[in-house]
Amino acid sequence: MKVEVTSQALTEVAVDVLILPLTEGAPAPTDVNEALGGLCAQVVGADFKGEMGQTTLLYTGGRLPARKVLLLGLGKAEKVTNRSLRRAAGIGARAARKSGARSIAFALPGAVEMDEAAAARFITEGALHGLFRLPDWKSEKKPRPEVEAVHILGGERAREGAEHGRIVAEGVNLARALAWTPGNHLTAAKLAERAAEMCRENGIEVEVYDKKGCEELGLGLLLAVNQGSREEPRFIVMRYKGNGGQGPWLGLVGKGLTFDSGGISIKPTEGMWNMKMDMGGAAAVIGAMQAIARLKVKVDVMAVIPSTDNMPDGGSYKPGDVVSGLSGKTVEIRSTDAEGRLILADGLAYAAKQGCRKIITASTLTGACNIALGPIRYALVANDDAWEEEVYRAGEAAGERGWKLPHDEEYYDLIKSSVADMINGTKNRAAGTVAGGLFLMKHVGETPCVHLDIAAVAWKSGSDEYEDEGATGVGTRTFVEAARRFAEGLR
Ligand code: BES
Ligand code: MN
Ligand code: ZN
Repeated sequence: MKVEVTSQALTEVAVDVLILPLTEGAPAPTDVNEALGGLCAQVVGADFKGEMGQTTLLYTGGRLPARKVLLLGLGKAEKVTNRSLRRAAGIGARAARKSGARSIAFALPGAVEMDEAAAARFITEGALHGLFRLPDWKSEKKPRPEVEAVHILGGERAREGAEHGRIVAEGVNLARALAWTPGNHLTAAKLAERAAEMCRENGIEVEVYDKKGCEELGLGLLLAVNQGSREEPRFIVMRYKGNGGQGPWLGLVGKGLTFDSGGISIKPTEGMWNMKMDMGGAAAVIGAMQAIARLKVKVDVMAVIPSTDNMPDGGSYKPGDVVSGLSGKTVEIRSTDAEGRLILADGLAYAAKQGCRKIITASTLTGACNIALGPIRYALVANDDAWEEEVYRAGEAAGERGWKLPHDEEYYDLIKSSVADMINGTKNRAAGTVAGGLFLMKHVGETPCVHLDIAAVAWKSGSDEYEDEGATGVGTRTFVEAARRFAEGLR
């Protein structure tokens, strides 16, 4: 998608739809209103109230170079946030597309407390998010109207913001497409190919370990989960050397479970199809690495993705088994459906042993996360308060919301085992999301580590006026912003 910033005036820009974001009670820009013979003033405050996400389409009848004007509600000025602006922009872009627009232009909103760069950034992000089409495998491709160019009316600061927003949105959309892809089309081997392809295109070093390689590395937990599968596992390591490769390294680790049947502890039929998205954490890591490289962030980032599916089979690992992997810690399997923490434990141990100074990991780890927080915020669980706070703030700044769950010592009791160093389940299902997170912390040694449980927010059920049903790409933006801040901290 082309995104162009132009210094043209509202009354000059020749596009199919000119989008005017307006807060509640704000008048339409005078020049547009005058050109339209007072039409805007009649509509604003009457049909158009400026409520968040409200859209009203006006035909210009040749009185402006733009064929149509779309009034786009932002809600109350004091309530506008990076997220609400992004969402509004997506709604506006989709409404314009629905009316057949091939080219659209956004005015920057007045009356909101956001600088020009930030406004352009979040508008661009929202437009590209809303306009993105998830891939499908239909045999007949219906021709659909597509927006080909997005223009932002602004100056030099807006240009920087729009560029940033475009790169982030491209990362998010890559993550969405990957997480949405069916398990048979995206096996571990194929996920590794897609990651390697992204790396080649963006100057990132990549190593992919196959089953034999995983054995040589000692990834016993990944291999245990893979035992029931016909597909080989992959262990993907990407290195982006934005700081010359001398470190310190930021580690990003993502759960790459290409399909989670639950294994021997098999899941119920309902909704199992959805477990093709159980590599949403890995998808976010891949999307973020692309964005970090394209933004040329001056930071060294190591990304690690353990990948396999989780299948029942005569050779599967079983409840009661005791297994161990790269950290050397032993694990008593209580449920083969708590597989994510196993493969991540190997990924995290690898990142820690490679000397990453700090780690962030994202995964669709626990259904309990939906019980705790619903499909609104992801959960953070960590072993270090300061690093957790930094990642939390990075998420907020990037327009992704999380919530910090506790990590008191007593919570570690939830994963105690009488035969091994820990169990991979939870006793009485208590604090399932905390238990899952603390399991991970047991494998990083002293390295500060933050876990994002995105299980409830990685998937949106039902399409709405902002985005289509399916993978959301969540985590990507938090990773990118955290990497930028990590880089800032080095200077
Ligand atoms: N991939 C699931 C978690 C999940 C559930 C993600 C729903 C997205 C939507 C994970 O592997 C899992 O099965 N977790 C178990 C853990 C339990 C057995 C301790 C769960 O949440 O039930
Ligand atoms: Mn599972
Ligand atoms: Zn899973």
